[in-house]
Amino acid sequence: MTILIDHPQFGAVDEAQEQTVQIDEKKLLLDGGFLVPHTNSFGHTFRDYDAESERQKEVENFYRINHINQTYDFVRQMREEYGKLNRVEMSIWECCELLNDVVDESDPDLDEPQIEHLLQTAEAIRKDYPDEDWLHLTGLIHDLGKVLLHPSFGGLPQWAVVGDTFPIGCAFDESIVHHKYFKENADYNNSAYNTKYGLYSEGCGLNNIMMSWGHDDYMYLVAKENNTTLPSAALFIIRYHSFYSLHRSGAYKHLMNEEDVENLKWLQVFNKYDLYSKSKVQIDVERVKPYYLSLIEKYFPAKLNW
Ligand SMILES: [Fe+2]
Ligand SMILES: [Fe+2]
Repeated sequence: MTILIDHPQFGAVDEAQEQTVQIDEKKLLLDGGFLVPHTNSFGHTFRDYDAESERQKEVENFYRINHINQTYDFVRQMREEYGKLNRVEMSIWECCELLNDVVDESDPDLDEPQIEHLLQTAEAIRKDYPDEDWLHLTGLIHDLGKVLLHPSFGGLPQWAVVGDTFPIGCAFDESIVHHKYFKENADYNNSAYNTKYGLYSEGCGLNNIMMSWGHDDYMYLVAKENNTTLPSAALFIIRYHSFYSLHRSGAYKHLMNEEDVENLKWLQVFNKYDLYSKSKVQIDVERVKPYYLSLIEKYFPAKLNW
């Protein structure tokens, strides 16, 4: 299901377009120093799953298949298999380039190569939080787990890689997008998994719960197992950035511990940039690349196991 798209070489960008940011300021709102565009690449408001758009039906169908198939057994198997990290050896930057070949079907806002989104997110954070270099790098790498879509990673279907994530092993909260489709999930009627706490307990910590499988959990495993020196807030952001029922709707707070509460504050900062940087903003990749290479060197080994 991977969609391969033609994309011009970044080096070939017309001189006149080399300004880092080309945005129509009339379309922007000022929000805490960060310019928030009203609309996404398709001219709709962000995360508007009900908007009349060609994409809407595709996205809903995506979530139907996702909600049916993300079961406890499925996630356990995927974590075991992909946790081996025995597929490829490559650097963080090589992975950024590999990701250019994939498009995320679950995202109603994004219709461009991933590296654009990664750098838009990172550069927007860098502008507002110049001293938090770990957060810039987190912006760059947070979606690298989408390489699971790539044929060299087994070409997993979109429903097993992208989209909002949610806990597995306890009841699916009603705030999860297109919740109705969980009725067809095998765990929905399993009494071990379908109560408020399910397999878990009050304040047990998000680290102890199993999340639906996708690029978030995978990139978290890659970063952790390759001994990144990024702070725990960075790992939290990577792992839970698609957990919208938590960071947008406030569900599942009964499972959080104190460290989660602290880290959630950073995730909420991050999320604004992840979401609103998906607009027609052009980044001069060659200009910013040396900075990000220096951060990669600071926080990661030269080659990682994937
Ligand atoms: Fe993501
Ligand atoms: Fe993202």
